[in-house]
Amino acid sequence: MGTYARIIGTGGYLPESQRTNEDISLLVDTSDAWILERTGIKSRRIAAADESAASMAEIAARQAIEVAGIAAEEIDAIIVATGTPDRVYPSTACLLQHRLGIQQCVGFDVQAACSGSIFALSIADQYIKTGMYRKVLVVGSEICSRVVDWTDRGTCILFGDGAGALLLEASAEPGVLSTHIHSDGQYEELLYLPNPQVASALTKDDVGFINMRGNEVFKVAVNTLGRIVDETLAANNLDKTAIDWLVPHQANIRIIEATARKLKMSMEQVVVTLQHQGNTSSASVLLALNEAVRDGRIQRGQILLLEAFGAGFTWGSALIKY
Ligand code: ACO
Repeated sequence: MGTYARIIGTGGYLPESQRTNEDISLLVDTSDAWILERTGIKSRRIAAADESAASMAEIAARQAIEVAGIAAEEIDAIIVATGTPDRVYPSTACLLQHRLGIQQCVGFDVQAACSGSIFALSIADQYIKTGMYRKVLVVGSEICSRVVDWTDRGTCILFGDGAGALLLEASAEPGVLSTHIHSDGQYEELLYLPNPQVASALTKDDVGFINMRGNEVFKVAVNTLGRIVDETLAANNLDKTAIDWLVPHQANIRIIEATARKLKMSMEQVVVTLQHQGNTSSASVLLALNEAVRDGRIQRGQILLLEAFGAGFTWGSALIKY
């Protein structure tokens, strides 16, 4: 019998302060009605000045550890997905390891923009399946509010801050059934976050804000997510009807609805958190999973399809028997 990576705990953290669409309409030429209609977002959380990707990751991780009922020292590896690390190095995973008081495990970051949590989950799954590690902590943590240009109405309406976490453990019971990750670097200019300190004259990137051609990203995202749904079902020899819950990246309600339509799923079977969280990039899928596990919607034994799409472009999915 093979070894599966099984979810034994989830956690999440959202900063206290809310920024509503009305608040944003005081900053840029937009309106609550426009944002709600085009994105489904009503408000997002904004981290306090003393919060960071590492501090939010710690709270989400401690929750997952508590739910799992394990000691932090039992963790073999910490994989953090973030595009907004406290420091380029040490990695946010190393900072988190120290915050959790662990010395004996390995920690590293994964950078795949909004798909980061799926990439981190996929890596964790390989380690567990091969027997290299038994317990792996996966975290997505983002402080998007600090890399958003609050004068750009095309991006500032979308993003929010937060952290999500899950703990995986080796088990004879399923488990993660499959993960699928992809990237295609040809779309660099459609969505990028410059690193101004190392930007060359070539890129002329002198500020570290998210740049996005939203409408073009939107179209590629819808098509790509449709394809990855097919790929995931085919790899598992499953029909659409086998999926109990879609847990999508929370970028735009219209993208989520398109994926649900493709799966012929009612929106009742889709976990949607973006109305009050916005797009929390690599935290979003883990936050959505945590919310639906905690409120009892997701039950043991159910089949979950997690998916995400982000800068790179990167995209990925995970099929999980919870
Ligand atoms: N308020 C009012 N009007 C606006 C706003 C705004 N906030 N933003 C744009 N507009 C205007 C535009 O200027 C344009 O006006 P025009 O027709 O006079 O030129 C019009 O609205 C339509 O603009 P579009 O960009 O075509 O609007 P669209 O319906 O595509 O919605 C949005 C924009 C919400 C950004 C959408 O394209 C989107 O969600 N894109 C995908 C984002 C995404 O999935 N990103 C990937 C993950 S993020 C990551 O990896 C970091």
